[in-house]
Amino acid sequence: MLPALRLLPAEFARDLTIRGLEAGLGGLMNDRAARQPDPPILAQRLWGLDFTNPVGLAAGYDKDARVPDALRRLGFGFVEVGTVTPRPQPGNPKPRVFRLEKDQAIINRMGFNSDGLDAVVERLARRPRSGIVGVNLGKNRDSGDAVGDYELGIRRAARFADYLVVNISSPNTPGLRQLQRRESLQSLIPALLEARRESRPEVPLLVKIAPDLGAAERADIASILVDSGIDGLIVSNTTLDRPAGLTSRTAQEEGGLSGRPLFGSSTKLLADMYRLTQARLPLIGVGGVACASDAYAKIRAGACLVQLYTALVFHGPHLVSQIKQDLADLLQQDGFASITEAVGAAHRSAPASTRTKHAERAPP
Ligand SMILES: Cc1cc2nc3c(=O)[nH]c(=O)nc-3n(C[C@H](O)[C@H](O)[C@H](O)COP(=O)(O)O)c2cc1C
Repeated sequence: MLPALRLLPAEFARDLTIRGLEAGLGGLMNDRAARQPDPPILAQRLWGLDFTNPVGLAAGYDKDARVPDALRRLGFGFVEVGTVTPRPQPGNPKPRVFRLEKDQAIINRMGFNSDGLDAVVERLARRPRSGIVGVNLGKNRDSGDAVGDYELGIRRAARFADYLVVNISSPNTPGLRQLQRRESLQSLIPALLEARRESRPEVPLLVKIAPDLGAAERADIASILVDSGIDGLIVSNTTLDRPAGLTSRTAQEEGGLSGRPLFGSSTKLLADMYRLTQARLPLIGVGGVACASDAYAKIRAGACLVQLYTALVFHGPHLVSQIKQDLADLLQQDGFASITEAVGAAHRSAPASTRTKHAERAPP
């Protein structure tokens, strides 16, 4: 996350950062801007939670919930830990994370390396409850009972999470993405909701989806989830696609691609889901956010909140404060009094008073 770390292999650099934060060295990373209060225009209440800003850290950075609070102090409005699997598992052999410098992208095939639920829940139980921390849940690679794994995750983590995410979209666990199909969702979703009802009914339960979905799959997901009791969608995970124009040497490594080349397709999916759910389901937009105008485009396409991961690796932690400040400016320039007013704005025709170069952009 610090510039010098980019000389090290990607996963090793991340591990060092986590260890540094565990050792209390976060002060070296968060500048004065990170300690300033967030601009009030960025505040939003969702699912009964008060977000002081809409910029979150995406899942996969702090998989084992080692430093959620230190990460939050970098200025994030919320931090998502995980993916955590029920039992500990090592993930795929290393190297399994590749930086695509020239493309501002990462390919990863981590394969859900996880300390497991016991360790993660114990860490979460020990932390003082402040700030918004979500827990992203997965299944073990060798488990034959995906539904049972997610149910267990919900039952164990519900008390310690501000929201829960069912991750059925990572490309590195065989069969996982098939859970996004109509028949699978129809049996999965009621079981998840029941597990939530029996553990902590008020905890928001979200589903994270993949960008590589066809039109029919998008429509199926929207129609099954919209009135199901699921509280929101995270759009999107990494892509198996390799868009034309990637120039980095490692571009053909196997795994999920994130960062700049994912921005267009993940924002298009976000806009589709906003439309298909008739704006009735809060959406979190993730994929290639690297500056305020990226975040703003996601919000205008329908996201209430955004998350990022890859840009943090390339630009370092000061990026978070920069995005927040610039986003507040963009909202003001377009005449919005709050972020909530801007959500989905690209789908509506703007009133004359707010018609600026941003407001006129068509939805993706
Ligand atoms: C190294 C790495 C590991 C990731 N691990 C997870 C994970 O465990 N669970 C998950 O839901 N998403 C995971 N992601 C996906 C991110 O949460 C995010 O959806 C994706 O990277 C797109 O955002 P970005 O372009 O800002 O990176 C991972 C991404 C990267 C780069």
